[in-house]
Amino acid sequence: MDSLLLKNFDEIENDFIKRLRQHPVFVNIMSINDELFGKVLMQRRFLSIYFTPMYDISIDILESENAKIIARKIVREEYPGEDGNRLSHRESLFSDIVSLGYNKDAILSTRKTSSTRDVLGDMFDLIYLSRSFNKGDLGILSILRFLFEVLVSEEYFMYKKRIEHMGLCCSETSAPNSIRSKFYGPHILYDSKTSKSILDIGPNQISHSDQLTKLLNELIVDEEALSIVCSLMEKSIKIKCKFYSQFTQYI
Ligand SMILES: [Fe+2]
Ligand SMILES: [Fe+2]
Repeated sequence: MDSLLLKNFDEIENDFIKRLRQHPVFVNIMSINDELFGKVLMQRRFLSIYFTPMYDISIDILESENAKIIARKIVREEYPGEDGNRLSHRESLFSDIVSLGYNKDAILSTRKTSSTRDVLGDMFDLIYLSRSFNKGDLGILSILRFLFEVLVSEEYFMYKKRIEHMGLCCSETSAPNSIRSKFYGPHILYDSKTSKSILDIGPNQISHSDQLTKLLNELIVDEEALSIVCSLMEKSIKIKCKFYSQFTQYI
């Protein structure tokens, strides 16, 4: 692991994240109307529904047993409680959207737009494409970490102000009587790139991103590896921007 390579990786990654933050949907997140914000959440829900099959395919692609173990644990966290008495993450997501004031029937009668279907296809294609860059899991780990953890936390972090404005508290220390987010708030935390820099990961920083960062760091051994990771990050950002761009015309 070369610290200069990792420093470059960190800076390039932050630039990609900035690109997503500058998307018109996020720049205007506080001023778009409730109906449009609801459309964004209901379409985004479909990407979450496909999270586990995408992770399952990724586990099949992974070669390192150590990486498979971490990925399996992440998937199992999606379904907490062995007695069926706790909400899955998808149910928590549904519950949060309802708590924001959107009608259950509206959520359930919403169908994927053609853009959302395209984006889902692009995400599956990117997972399969990772195999051609898979120098010891480099490709698939890059995608799992960036597209399915780092960017997810970023998206929900950008929703946070709007969600809280609509009465759903995302922070750990919410007032006793406030309605607390069951999905968005926890995912901001658990998926985040928690360390200020990927250079200073400590033993207690165990977000999903950071668990995968540890594996990825060991594989970024030269400029060629770094350029593979960067090209996959760029493809991931393009997919995310494509998803949000379907709403730009309504802003
Ligand atoms: Fe989750
Ligand atoms: Fe996660």
